[in-house]
Amino acid sequence: MQVPEKDIETQKAIARSIREIVVSRASPSYAYVDTYGCQQNESDSEKLRGMLVGMGYNITYDEFEADVAVINTCAIRENAENRVLGNVGALVHAKAAKRSLIIVFCGCLAGVPETVEKVRGSYQHVDLVFPPNALWRFPELLYAAMLRGTYAYFADGVKEDGAPQPEIPHGSTLKRIFVTESVEGAIIEGIPSHRDMKIRAWLPVMYGCDNYCSYCIVPYVRGRERSRAPDAIVDEARVIVSAGYKDITMLGQNVNSYRDGASGRDSFAALIRRVNDINGEFLIRFMTSHPKDASDGLFRAMSECDKAARHIHLPFQAGSDRVLSLMNRGYTQAEYLERVAAARSFMPEIALTSDAIVGFPGETESDFEETLRLVEKAQFDSLFIFIYSGRPGTPAARLEDATTREEKQARFDRLNDLQNSISKAKHAQFVGKKTRVLVDTQSRDARYPLKARTNGGRLVHLLGEADLLGSFVEARITHCNSWSLFGEVW
Ligand code: SAH
Ligand code: SF4
Ligand code: F3S
Repeated sequence: MQVPEKDIETQKAIARSIREIVVSRASPSYAYVDTYGCQQNESDSEKLRGMLVGMGYNITYDEFEADVAVINTCAIRENAENRVLGNVGALVHAKAAKRSLIIVFCGCLAGVPETVEKVRGSYQHVDLVFPPNALWRFPELLYAAMLRGTYAYFADGVKEDGAPQPEIPHGSTLKRIFVTESVEGAIIEGIPSHRDMKIRAWLPVMYGCDNYCSYCIVPYVRGRERSRAPDAIVDEARVIVSAGYKDITMLGQNVNSYRDGASGRDSFAALIRRVNDINGEFLIRFMTSHPKDASDGLFRAMSECDKAARHIHLPFQAGSDRVLSLMNRGYTQAEYLERVAAARSFMPEIALTSDAIVGFPGETESDFEETLRLVEKAQFDSLFIFIYSGRPGTPAARLEDATTREEKQARFDRLNDLQNSISKAKHAQFVGKKTRVLVDTQSRDARYPLKARTNGGRLVHLLGEADLLGSFVEARITHCNSWSLFGEVW
């Protein structure tokens, strides 16, 4: 369903009303936004900050200074959830220090019914809860939370300056606000982003996921797959480039299944070509790609676009065909390796990174050895390894899982050791050579004051002056370890 234009106008009008209230306060108001999880959440947080700035708030990184604290959460694994809940629990101190603080719990965990019930019962200091697809309604929801805060404040009898207590307006309630429904499939254009990095920018191209990998909670919390219109994306890319950003990452749970109706299966390839045509010096990255949609058309477009970084993140998850089928991934090990070979035939220098899950329910020693075999054959530049975590509502969570935590950890360590030796050998090939990097961060490490990334996305600890931030420079690589390169500006 598309959100009617008038509903979006209503949100904008409410945002203007909030701004009037906020800017008329005696002292400035502050908003704190804490983000967990993937780049999609980072991008949503930029929109939350954009809306908050539009509503008159200043951005703070100190929750004790905040008038509004937003926790944008991740549900992907149980340890992510525990970390979020621990930090939300700790906000009770910020609320005790400032009773008017509004605490907002949003993002993927706010789409998990079991977690929402936990927040309702055990985290009473949280004022407002809404799932990712309700993000566009943030002004209206925040306004409701502000009203509630005002009346709760009076009702608690905290106000002692003798001002008359206002009547609680008809229909308003002192209840905390829990939004559970959201507009499925909605794409809302025009929410301003407040990007806090000056060099790298996220550019969402599609939302949601229809793949239903059996272990994954994302389709349940982010809804059906839908793509933005190509013109809207290209226009936003132009704005990003003219603002001076040098590294644009096109985002989606499954970017290469992007569809614009006109270009069919190769819509994403066509989109890369259009962004590549924008004038300026910048790199185009994208994530995440699903192997089943990693077509030759995509690789050809990358190889023909000078601004497309020579990097693809192509999660394989498992090496065993049996486990891949239980995971509902839609390919075999041989088919995955065939896609890797195809990518390298178009771009021999391409950096390849991936994700793997160890300890999927019922994974046997011989299944796991297939994962080792795949990693040996694929020779990834780097690999993110996760221990399987059962998520509520997913089919895999109902499977029997007899493997112990210790066995899973041992598999994790073996895979990690194998990848580290591969990464180290790959990194060693850079030593003594020159490579072009984008300087993107100032480091606290006095020995290497800058951090930079190669075209393939490898981290380089760099000797150089701070005024190089945001520039492309030639670096000479002096040494390396399994995780990164070290070098100096040439
Ligand atoms: N849409 C992307 C990323 C999804 S989340 C993709 O499909 O590649 C990032 C990674 O988290 C996944 O690639 C997977 O390796 C891991 N992951 C997802 N669900 C998990 C779970 N239940 N337990 C452990 N790891 C999980
Ligand atoms: Fe999750 Fe699979 Fe979709 Fe990735 S492709 S978000 S792992 S369901
Ligand atoms: Fe986490 Fe949601 Fe991203 S579950 S990984 S923040 S899509």
